[in-house]
Amino acid sequence: MRQKLVAGNWKMHGNSQSIRELLAALTPAVAESAAEIAVIPPLVYVPLCVDLLAGSKLSIGAQTVSEQCDPGAYTGEVSAEMLADSGCHYVLVGHSERRSLYGENDALVAAKTEAALNAKVLPIVCVGETREQREAGETLKVVGRQLDVVLATLKSEHEKITVAYEPVWAIGTGLTATPEQAQEVHAFIRTQLAAHSAELADTVRILYGGSVKAANAAELFAQPDIDGGLVGGASLDAEEFAAICNAIG
Ligand code: 13P
Repeated sequence: MRQKLVAGNWKMHGNSQSIRELLAALTPAVAESAAEIAVIPPLVYVPLCVDLLAGSKLSIGAQTVSEQCDPGAYTGEVSAEMLADSGCHYVLVGHSERRSLYGENDALVAAKTEAALNAKVLPIVCVGETREQREAGETLKVVGRQLDVVLATLKSEHEKITVAYEPVWAIGTGLTATPEQAQEVHAFIRTQLAAHSAELADTVRILYGGSVKAANAAELFAQPDIDGGLVGGASLDAEEFAAICNAIG
């Protein structure tokens, strides 16, 4: 049985005051949730979150990581070992905003995934198609290619990844994929994992992301191949995010 996961990607939002308020309200509100829960703050606030979440069931992730494993002259970069050392359990790789705004390609995403695993930080590998790609009937081809590069690059520990399907047209737009649209892509991803091994298909969690809200979470999470959510905007509101976490059955 895969443990469901709900992760809140705060993107570039918040400050120490707002984070204190958010976590003070969130922690008790999700104490009984059946889901595993993670928050993914901007990197500078990781130590604050580690402090505030000590003793709680919530874990912490980072939004990106360097593909470089060894220390060196990489100004501005943060290694996976540093993330692990700072208390990050997860890291997002291949988020569509990193791909579209910062030019991250499939090979770089695969290298970052490998770097994370080397340091025992669990990568959440994000995949998803743009609106134009969906309209051109290319959804499965695009998602398949994005995941294939990662699966083919890793030499081991494939079972430690989590996949997040985030259709780009649904991110921050209020347009959510219908549960049927999301399930279709999740089932496809599961088949792709099965081509690697049946055990991988059974083990790897596939999260849905893109305008997840309290109002649509239960229906999405009830789909057989949706193992939780990667939540953006709604994760900045304690009540809304707690309701999403508590929608896990
Ligand atoms: P929204 O939930 O704001 O659409 O963002 C989704 C996302 O990008 C999470 O990583």
